[in-house]
Amino acid sequence: MMTAKNAFWHDKCVVVTGASSGIGKALAEHLVKQGAKVGLIARRQNVLEQIITTLAAPVDKVAWACADVTDPAATATAVQLLEKRLGPCEVMIANAGIYHKTDVMKFDAATQNAVIATNVQGVVNSVGAVLPGMIQRKQGHLVAVSSMAGMIGLPAAGTYSASKAALVTFFQSLRVDLHPLGVKATVVAPGYVDTPIITDEERETVKDLLTAEQAATRICTAIERNRAVDWFPWQAWLVCRLFSFAPSGLYRRLITHIPEMEETNTNRQ
Ligand SMILES: NC(=O)c1ccc[n+]([C@@H]2O[C@H](COP(=O)([O-])OP(=O)(O)OC[C@H]3O[C@@H](n4cnc5c(N)ncnc54)[C@H](OP(=O)(O)O)[C@@H]3O)[C@@H](O)[C@H]2O)c1
Repeated sequence: MMTAKNAFWHDKCVVVTGASSGIGKALAEHLVKQGAKVGLIARRQNVLEQIITTLAAPVDKVAWACADVTDPAATATAVQLLEKRLGPCEVMIANAGIYHKTDVMKFDAATQNAVIATNVQGVVNSVGAVLPGMIQRKQGHLVAVSSMAGMIGLPAAGTYSASKAALVTFFQSLRVDLHPLGVKATVVAPGYVDTPIITDEERETVKDLLTAEQAATRICTAIERNRAVDWFPWQAWLVCRLFSFAPSGLYRRLITHIPEMEETNTNRQ
C-alpha cells in the first residue's frame, strides 16, 4: 500500500473520539497514512470494527474501544484499553460531538443538556482520561474539535454554540496552565464539513463546504504547528468575525438572514 508518511506522526499514539463517522473517521484514515498508531473511540462497536478493517493497518498500529464520552469511567477504561495495545497516548483528539436544534417554542432541557454533556463534558472526560499520564511523562498534546458556531451565538443553535464556545476558552486556559508542564493544547474550529451531522440542504447550499478529509488534514496541520486556535476556512472565519463585532441590534437583524442549522435524522443519542 502506498502511504505518505510524515516524521511528525511516525509511531505517535493518537486517540480519536467520535472516530466512527465524519471528521473522526477521516482523522483516523489520515493519521494511519501518516504512520501514526491510532486508537478509535465511539459508541457503535460494529461501525468501529468495520472501519478498522478498511484502514488495513498492522494490528499493532490500530485499535478500537467503545465508550460513551459522557461517562467518565467508561472513557477512562477505553483509553486504558487502547494504551495497553498501542502505548501511552501522545495526542488526544476529543472530536465526538452532536447537534440538536435549540427550538425556543419546544425547548426540551433534556435534549439541550445532551448537547452540553457530549460536546463539553465529553471533552472534559477525554482530557481527564489522558492528562495525568501526559503530565507524568512531561509531554502530550490535547486537541478539542470546536466549531465556527463557537465564535457567535447562532440562531436556533444555542446550546451547540455555547458548547463549542466553551471548548475555546477551556482550551485557552489549559494551554496556559499546561505550558510549564510540557503538555500542549490546541482547539480547532471548522466551518461546515460534509459529514452526517449536516443536512442535505446545507450540503447543497453551503459555500466553502469542506470534505471530512480536508478538515482532517487541516486539523493535523494545526497539531503539527502547535496552533492555539485554528478557525477554518478563512472565509467563514471572516464572516463570523465581522458578525461578532456588530452591535447587538445590527447583529440580530443580520444573523436572521443566515439559515438555521437543522437536525439530520441521523442524530444518535
Ligand atoms: N460537520 C460539520 O459541519 C462540523 C463543523 C464544525 C465542527 N464539527 C464538529 O466535529 C465533530 C465531529 O462531527 P462530524 O461532523 O464528524 O459528525 P458525525 O459524522 O455525526 O460524527 C460524530 C461522531 O461522534 C460520535 N459520538 C457522538 N456522541 C458520542 C458519545 N456520547 N460518545 C462517544 N462518541 C460519540 C459518533 O459516534 P457514535 O454514534 O458511534 O458514538 C460519531 O463518530 C463534532 O464535535 C462536531 O460538532 C462538525
